[in-house]
Amino acid sequence: MASLNIIYYSATGNTEEMAKYIAQGAKDAGADVKVINVEEADEKSVNADFLAFGSPAAGAEEIAPEIVEFIESNKDKIFNKTVGLFGSYDWGTGVFMESWVEQLTSENFSIVGEGFINHLAADDNEKIEKCKEYGRKIVL
Ligand SMILES: Cc1cc2nc3c(=O)[nH]c(=O)nc-3n(C[C@H](O)[C@H](O)[C@H](O)COP(=O)(O)O)c2cc1C
Repeated sequence: MASLNIIYYSATGNTEEMAKYIAQGAKDAGADVKVINVEEADEKSVNADFLAFGSPAAGAEEIAPEIVEFIESNKDKIFNKTVGLFGSYDWGTGVFMESWVEQLTSENFSIVGEGFINHLAADDNEKIEKCKEYGRKIVL
């Protein structure tokens, strides 16, 4: 069975909630999924067939430093894997995600689609379904 580890940072719970629905979608597609808060992640957290990283838009259209640092320090083990990127935002237009995908792609990471963003909480059916769909897409 394919395995997916989802590592996220979330200040107020919105990205964490996305992580749970993305996990559900991947489980529905048959994957063995772990959801890990970056504050509890270590080098073993990248031992899975597929990885996903979640961060809200933080700073000014930036990725949370906790996630940036985690990826940076585990780069060697992430390079050869398919990586999903997701996160919640509020007043922006998702530029944080465009820049993140662009930057990691330029470093030769293999990103699923254009990443996936959700406005604030995943609090209705349409948003929940989109999270699940991205989860399925990562492991297919
Ligand atoms: C310090 C700070 C900076 C933020 N910067 C942005 C931003 O640049 N663009 C944006 O769209 N939202 C921004 N937001 C809004 C958050 O991305 C949004 O509230 C998100 O849902 C938080 O996700 P979380 O609950 O996983 O922490 C910012 C929020 C905070 C507290």
